[in-house]
Amino acid sequence: PTCERYAVRRLPFARLEDGDVAFFERLMPGRVVTGEEEVKAFNVDWLKSVRGCSQLVLKPQTTAEVSQVLRYCHEKNLAVNPQGGNTGLVGGSVPVFDEIILSTALMNKIISFDKVSGILVCQAGCVLERLNEYLEEQGFVMPLDLGAKGSCHIGGNVATNAGGLRLLRYGSLRGTVLGLEVVLADGSALDCLTSLRKDNTGYDLKQLFIGSEGTLGVITAVSILCPQKPKAVNVAFLGCQSFAKVLETFTTCRAMLGEILSAYEFMDEKCMELVERHLKLSRPVTGSPFYVLIETSGSNSTHDEEKLSNFLEQAMASGLVTDGTVATDDKKIKELWSLRERITEALTHEGYVYKYDISLPVGKLYDLVTDMRARLGHSAKSVVGYGHLGDGNLHLNITAESYSHSLLDAIEPFVYEWTAGCSGSISAEHGLGFKKKQFIQYSKPQQAVVLMQQFKAMLDPKGILNPYKTLPSAPKRSLC
Ligand code: FAD
Ligand code: MLT
Ligand code: ZN
Repeated sequence: PTCERYAVRRLPFARLEDGDVAFFERLMPGRVVTGEEEVKAFNVDWLKSVRGCSQLVLKPQTTAEVSQVLRYCHEKNLAVNPQGGNTGLVGGSVPVFDEIILSTALMNKIISFDKVSGILVCQAGCVLERLNEYLEEQGFVMPLDLGAKGSCHIGGNVATNAGGLRLLRYGSLRGTVLGLEVVLADGSALDCLTSLRKDNTGYDLKQLFIGSEGTLGVITAVSILCPQKPKAVNVAFLGCQSFAKVLETFTTCRAMLGEILSAYEFMDEKCMELVERHLKLSRPVTGSPFYVLIETSGSNSTHDEEKLSNFLEQAMASGLVTDGTVATDDKKIKELWSLRERITEALTHEGYVYKYDISLPVGKLYDLVTDMRARLGHSAKSVVGYGHLGDGNLHLNITAESYSHSLLDAIEPFVYEWTAGCSGSISAEHGLGFKKKQFIQYSKPQQAVVLMQQFKAMLDPKGILNPYKTLPSAPKRSLC
């Protein structure tokens, strides 16, 4: 259980009483979950690596209900864990102890979509894939995409500042999110749900909540700028004989594909072996130590295909790429994307997964995998590297039959020291959650951490929102 593995103590929050449950039953009849079996799935994270022991899940439908829940919890000193699709990978989405789970599962209404501006306004619990389907019918797409799209909620995406597979093209949520509605710890609703491309009136408060992992407020609605659905999409899946060639291929494809390049993902041979073995996916290309998935998105298929084939010709002729396949139809495109998107799932079949999500100077991206492999030797089952190469984001994953303290000690803090040594980030896109909060100092100076703790204390003075997550506990000294 979480509490033993991470040696953390329960803070002195109130314990749930029958009267509390009765209050919530009156507030949202039929949307209060209490049975041990029914609550179970909400207590365990997607990776099945951490587990809480909450006895209560609340499923509000409106912002007003979220306000009432938080006002009550604030008054009674009850801790709350906001939860979206529960696909988070750092243990932030499930309680550590008995925090009440506030699920956005029923906050799934689209509020408006403006076809001229491409601005979508929706409740926080809308599932990313459903939003994308809705937009596609109108000739638009969501500006982000990730392997967890079928389950993750847009509120969870914003709360984690999820990156994903389209960031290279459409940028981060810090640019595409135009407005947010957030309920603060005391139950007051903050309406920053504007739909303006430009707004320089004072501080941009929504940025504070993007990536705050449920520790500063509950996001209840999101306004987001969506791009036009590209008319022509192509995917190339290529094999490279070395990581140096992966990098050179990236430089060449950026130069030759220019504005139509929409994704540049990489994975090593071991990843491909695992998706084949565990998920029975067939591999279109074999025999290379590295593979890249390149996507182009544009508005003119003839133009895009010509550009792509010129690039491929050059990449093959110069020996950057030794083998490959290209897809232009939807079905094959999806199949090729599955090889990359489903690595996360394939890894879980190996046993316990130690997950690291690192930002590094792109030239050094794979050195960490090589060094870790040499360091761990046979104590790990596999050490693999894949990720969003175009964003300088490595996913280093280490697997073992089961969790072991000694293996964790061999990985951490080495992995964080290595990353800090390259001025990288110990969390590129997954956040810090419960598992990584004590390592924040490898990527942020003490002064920044103290300022973060002060923001937290100002917005949530009782610390009821997602306690034990994201920030190291209580400020040790003040800034002034
Ligand atoms: P949850 O997991 O439920 O919660 C995540 C965090 O956000 C928690 O701290 C929670 O308290 C908080 N939270 C959730 N909803 C709210 C809210 N409404 N208000 C305030 N706080 C809230 N991540 C990436 O960045 N890029 C990827 O490519 C990517 N791919 C993934 C692929 C797979 C197969 C899986 C399982 C995960 C992947 N992730 C990825 C991680 C995860 O999907 C993202 O972090 C996602 O954005 C989480 O959304 P969620 O709704 O599941 O949030
Ligand atoms: C991905 O890019 O596949 C996700 O971030 C999930 C992971 O790191 O496994
Ligand atoms: Zn990722």
